[in-house]
Amino acid sequence: MNVAIILAAGKSERLNEIDVPKQLYVVNKVPLFLYSVLTFNQLDEIDAIYLVTNDECLPLIEKYLKVYTIEKLKGVILGGVTRQESVYLALRNIEKTVKNDDIILIHDAARPLISKETILANIEAVKIFEAVSTAIKVNDTVFNVKDDHVDHIVDRSCLYQAQTPQSFNYRLIKKAHEMAINNMVVANDDSALVRELGYDVHVVKGTTTNFKVTTIDDIKLLEMMIL
Ligand code: CTP
Ligand code: MG
Repeated sequence: MNVAIILAAGKSERLNEIDVPKQLYVVNKVPLFLYSVLTFNQLDEIDAIYLVTNDECLPLIEKYLKVYTIEKLKGVILGGVTRQESVYLALRNIEKTVKNDDIILIHDAARPLISKETILANIEAVKIFEAVSTAIKVNDTVFNVKDDHVDHIVDRSCLYQAQTPQSFNYRLIKKAHEMAINNMVVANDDSALVRELGYDVHVVKGTTTNFKVTTIDDIKLLEMMIL
């Protein structure tokens, strides 16, 4: 079984210009969180979707979910204070409904324009490699800045930007999160936790359109792309 966990439990603290958490921001009549949920739902290769949100967003999310039929959505789960905690709570919540060998694809709802190709590439790769992260190559020059001055140029030939989905079998990602709790390891993404356990993470190519809506500029970009 291939299971998507879609994360929409954040507080959008870097986006104060809009009056709702970004996952509820409506672009072209559709709230942001639904974009990726609908894309996962359309794929035959996806068997179940779990949406993770918070108390504040839950009432509106439930309202939207009554309007749209998302037949693969098997549950809405309350997340935690950090992204890492949200993932862990979701993994705990689905414990009894998934098998150890099931493939878990973890995706940020803040990346509304995830393509079907990227999701399928994750599924194919995780059948071969134990852990997979979507990523794109850094194309711009990257430099270190100190006090508003360029300090040094970073060699970007090996630099990639991590995206989601990131994919693992259930056993491995659960083990990585449990290790993190036991050892107080904090990481920005799931592949970092799996690497911490000593596993190799394979990279599949993402797309620039799979950007994460983080600031008001990203909202403007999304609106330019969609409207
Ligand atoms: N996320 C989550 N639970 C949290 C924090 C984040 O499910 N406690 C989710 C967000 O909803 C988002 C994804 O993780 O889809 C990536 O996080 P980010 O872009 O950082 O979103 P926020 O944490 O909401 O934004 P900010 O960091 O600006 O507050
Ligand atoms: Mg955040």
